Amino acid sequence: MPATPRLEIRNLTRRFDGRPVVDDVSLSVMPGQVTCLLGPSGCGKSTTLRMIAGVERQDEGSIWIDGELICDTVVHVPAEQRRTGLMFQDFALFPHLSVAGNVGFGLTGPAPARRDRIGEMLERVDMLRFIDAWPHELSGGEQQRVALARALAPNPRIMLMDEPFSGLDNRLRDDIRDTTLAILRDADAAVLLVTHEPEEAMRMSDDIALMRHGRVVQQGAPYNIYNAPRDKAAVSFFSDINVIRGVVRNALTETPFGQFLAPGVPDGQEVEIVIRPQHLKIDFDRNGSGPLPTAQDGTPARGIVTRARFMGSESLVEFRMDHDGSILKATVPNVFLPSPGKPLWLTIRRDRCFVFPVPA
Ligand SMILES: Nc1ncnc2c1ncn2[C@@H]1O[C@H](COP(=O)(O)OP(=O)(O)OP(=O)(O)O)[C@@H](O)[C@H]1O
Ligand SMILES: [Mg+2]
Repeated sequence: MPATPRLEIRNLTRRFDGRPVVDDVSLSVMPGQVTCLLGPSGCGKSTTLRMIAGVERQDEGSIWIDGELICDTVVHVPAEQRRTGLMFQDFALFPHLSVAGNVGFGLTGPAPARRDRIGEMLERVDMLRFIDAWPHELSGGEQQRVALARALAPNPRIMLMDEPFSGLDNRLRDDIRDTTLAILRDADAAVLLVTHEPEEAMRMSDDIALMRHGRVVQQGAPYNIYNAPRDKAAVSFFSDINVIRGVVRNALTETPFGQFLAPGVPDGQEVEIVIRPQHLKIDFDRNGSGPLPTAQDGTPARGIVTRARFMGSESLVEFRMDHDGSILKATVPNVFLPSPGKPLWLTIRRDRCFVFPVPA
């Protein structure tokens, strides 16, 4: 028998003024698993989380925790009885309570046990020395760690996190993300994390639910979503893209970069070939140096460098293509920074591009 999900939501819908902002969303999260709701601003991520937390009612659908119905259109277990931990972007510490007071806020039971738990939680986030401090005496990162300790102290079954790291600088953020993940995995909580940053989603989650206009458009492991995106928008959500158009004949489309397979696509159908900048390669062989192109690389096409930017670990180079004047972008190793005006031959990693029919 399959294990019971810690959290399961079925066909959840929420409308504002008749407009569905969360539209028939279903997903489940197992204990110890991190699932991420990823999507652009306004796609319904926070609203979904708020319904699970119990601070927003759904119009349709149901929510289950450990196989127990928490709410549907009739049942509604109040927020405080759901044993969910919350870490929201604007869920600041209580300014009138000390660090200890904040962490102990949701705890019940005898005072000595509460004190022990507060100490234990602060130790885990490496903040024990601040136990008597006040929130205004802490840096942003320190406050974040106290907020994490506070959320975890009552031992939640589910942790709901809404862009919890967005106020932190990069270095600090990586640190706190890793600490948070380690603690949550230890506690065997199920985590639903909301973010609009693909790097954060890939770094933190086992499973990504990609949302658009209130719907989950694709769900899977980060590797699968990145490498088998279901449409052009799913590719562009994770990186810059290049698009080349073509028309299909005999399950192939002919382009200046050679032929691309379009299995199952009918004759005459227009398609878009979508390529990430790292898979558009400068053909160093044809340009006089470097490795030979592989069989995957197709036919070289020539463009003129219009712009080249040094980005640290790599450079981003833009080309105007000779054959149609279109602009394509390539990321190249940082040792190579061509000057504008330079003609260069390019090839495409045909095994790394995606062919999508253009919707009618
Ligand atoms: N109480 C409300 N009344 C009316 N509309 C609302 C309400 N709450 C949210 N919305 C609308 O629902 C849509 C989804 O909002 P939501 O906060 O869930 O988006 P989000 O995906 O979290 O976006 P962001 O990444 O910007 O936080 C938005 O268009 C928003 O304006
Ligand atoms: Mg939001």
